[in-house]
Amino acid sequence: MAGQCVCVSDFEEQARKVLPKAVYDYYCSGADEQKTLADNVAAFSRWYLVPRVLRDVSTVDLSVSVLGQKLSMPLCVGATAMQRMAHPEGETATARACKAVGTGMMLSSWATSTIEEVISATTTSLESGGVLWMQLYIYKDRELTLSLVRRAEKAGYKAIFVTVDTPYLGKRLDDMRNRFKMPPHLSLSNFSTASLAFSEGNYGNDSGLAVYVAKAIDPAICWDDITWLKRNTHLPVIVKGILNGEDALQAVRYGVNGILVSNHGARQLDGVPATLDVLEEVVTAVQGCCDVYMDGGVRRGTDVLKALALGAKAVFIGRPVLWGLACQGEQGVTEILELLKEELRLAMALSGCRSVAEVSRSLVRRMEFTSRI
Ligand SMILES: Cc1cc2nc3c(=O)[nH]c(=O)nc-3n(C[C@H](O)[C@H](O)[C@H](O)COP(=O)(O)O)c2cc1C
Repeated sequence: MAGQCVCVSDFEEQARKVLPKAVYDYYCSGADEQKTLADNVAAFSRWYLVPRVLRDVSTVDLSVSVLGQKLSMPLCVGATAMQRMAHPEGETATARACKAVGTGMMLSSWATSTIEEVISATTTSLESGGVLWMQLYIYKDRELTLSLVRRAEKAGYKAIFVTVDTPYLGKRLDDMRNRFKMPPHLSLSNFSTASLAFSEGNYGNDSGLAVYVAKAIDPAICWDDITWLKRNTHLPVIVKGILNGEDALQAVRYGVNGILVSNHGARQLDGVPATLDVLEEVVTAVQGCCDVYMDGGVRRGTDVLKALALGAKAVFIGRPVLWGLACQGEQGVTEILELLKEELRLAMALSGCRSVAEVSRSLVRRMEFTSRI
């Protein structure tokens, strides 16, 4: 099936046909009127690429170092919850695909596979596991939160991405209409009690996940929790969900190792800017004090290139991986990653960039509003 897919939107179209409606809606939706959801994608069309020519692009090196790990490309897999709703192998299939392509994967706290089984799925007697990072939600129960960190450290994860944009779950209309809950055969595998595993029956007439978040996740988290987290782990800490220069600077002051410019795939506060539109503000604010990453709306190789030109060290994708997983499990995710890698290689070559280091700010120019492509 995925053989007919030549771009990310082809995969999405196929995935929509095979996934149960409530699952597709959960994966696809943004918050409220979904204005930011559309804008995350549209923002990439507001920037031109301005290529250079005659530069011998017979070989193009896409490799990059992210948080001390060498990756085959500056495109990584972001945290998306509950991947076994898309395919029975869920997160383990995604992790294997990432390893095969040579990139990193961020595992959601709300995975339907355990921290340990995901890294084991990429480990053989001859090779160590793939590059995995742990996404962390800060629970009201801090010991529980730290137990996730300790398990990730012990298993060999390389960094903690702490999500800071979810004190409450955004209002996702489809999930409310569908009364979204986990299918009964699945649970949030990293938690041992039914209530924390989001697997017990009664979540009322609302989005079950919104009810879960209100019960379990701490809406009182503040900057001191970044200090607390850093004190309690030797792993690099990256804040996920920064959207302006002031918070970025504050994150630097609190000693973070990186910033992920993200609006949570437009699933939290509708009406916030597209991430591409605030990336440069964040990059300028931190003045090289830490790495800046971005996610949101990346669907093409040219999107990756534009984000790199605006200062991202690497970008992450969310939904495209779920579409690949739904279409064809590990193979589908591999195809999505290879497809984007080849698109990026071509975009770099056609722009006259032989390496990621050669991608500079002068490669992109913001369009006037009257002339969008
Ligand atoms: C279905 C779905 C589940 C997500 N789950 C999480 C999560 O558990 N933790 C988190 O920090 N972000 C989560 N995100 C946000 C992603 O990490 C990422 O920021 C976003 O998907 C990037 O936008 P994109 O989907 O347009 O590529 C989720 C996004 C989606 C679409």
